[in-house]
Amino acid sequence: MNTDVDVAVVGGGIIGLGIAWEAIRRGHSVALIDPDPAGGATHAAAGMIAPASELHYREEHLLRLTVDSASRYPEFLFSLAWTGVDPGYRRTGTLVLALDGADRTALADLQTVQQRNSLSVQQIPLREARRSEPLIGPAATAAFHAPDDHQLDPRRLAQALIAAVSERGRLVRRRASGIERTGNRVTGVSLEDGTFVGARHTVVANGLAAADLAGLPCQLPLRPVYGDILRLRVPEALQPLLTHTIRGLVRGHAVYLVPREDGTVVLGATMREDGSSAVSAGGVYQLLRDAQQLIPAVAELELVEVLCRARPGTPDNAPLLGGVTGTHNLVIATGFFRHGVLLTPAAAALCVDLLEGKPGPAEQERYKPDRFEEGRAWRS
Ligand code: GLY
Repeated sequence: MNTDVDVAVVGGGIIGLGIAWEAIRRGHSVALIDPDPAGGATHAAAGMIAPASELHYREEHLLRLTVDSASRYPEFLFSLAWTGVDPGYRRTGTLVLALDGADRTALADLQTVQQRNSLSVQQIPLREARRSEPLIGPAATAAFHAPDDHQLDPRRLAQALIAAVSERGRLVRRRASGIERTGNRVTGVSLEDGTFVGARHTVVANGLAAADLAGLPCQLPLRPVYGDILRLRVPEALQPLLTHTIRGLVRGHAVYLVPREDGTVVLGATMREDGSSAVSAGGVYQLLRDAQQLIPAVAELELVEVLCRARPGTPDNAPLLGGVTGTHNLVIATGFFRHGVLLTPAAAALCVDLLEGKPGPAEQERYKPDRFEEGRAWRS
């Protein structure tokens, strides 16, 4: 086989970058293919490493992967320290606030599920929450503390990963058009400019765009779930606005505020499936309205950025992660929905284990990319 590299990774979002770096640090030669690395969902992501407070009903099956991934972060970040880029990893924990009685009940019910799954979430008196976060407003009616839910800055992590992959691998700033195969063996990636990257193994990790790659052995049932997200600068007099990540339920609407070390706050994020990639005025209004209910001082901040990006959703909200039945030398890693940043270290380890021929985790069948297909035959 004519191969340029051991591993070709299609997609330079946080997942593709993480996989490329994991393969490089295990000694493989890698080409990462993306015309605009970290320009998609990664550019918008808030970066909550929060398995407990990001738990949604009926997604408990994801917990083994999310908890495992969160625990891998310190070592994963340590492996990038040589790049000199600080990813802004903060272990200050998360406070979850309720507005009205229904919000309080919903969060208490969720706490039961979280505790049943051994996640550390405690209801604490509001006066205790206000001791660490004095700007919590008078309208909040309950507070829950998730001490193990952390955060980092995905843009800075991506910067570190891009530096690492550029230095120790190959960054190909071009668009992939399809994967190539001989029989059932994938041989590499064809690019839009007509060139080809030959590889012993290929990883498809380009988010929603994965579904459009030519030559895939199965359909990838991805759908865009749009999120509007804001960045606000905290004026000197109000710093630090917050030390914890604040999440809230405000009359049934979820909202979060993630404080960054650079004195900004990320406010997000809506969940829209309306097909519109433009920033929604209603979405921005809702986020600012709800955040002010919990932290009134949000009204004093400077609005510096408004973005919309799409999360790659799947029919069961679990990723499309693993090999495809009857296909060799191919791993798919997309569909991470709300959990791209959280799942990066675990997804990277799993993908590289698979291409090295090691067994994946026991629950891997749940993530199989072709699990929604009846006949898992190659589509020619
Ligand atoms: N993980 C946060 C979000 O998707 O909005």
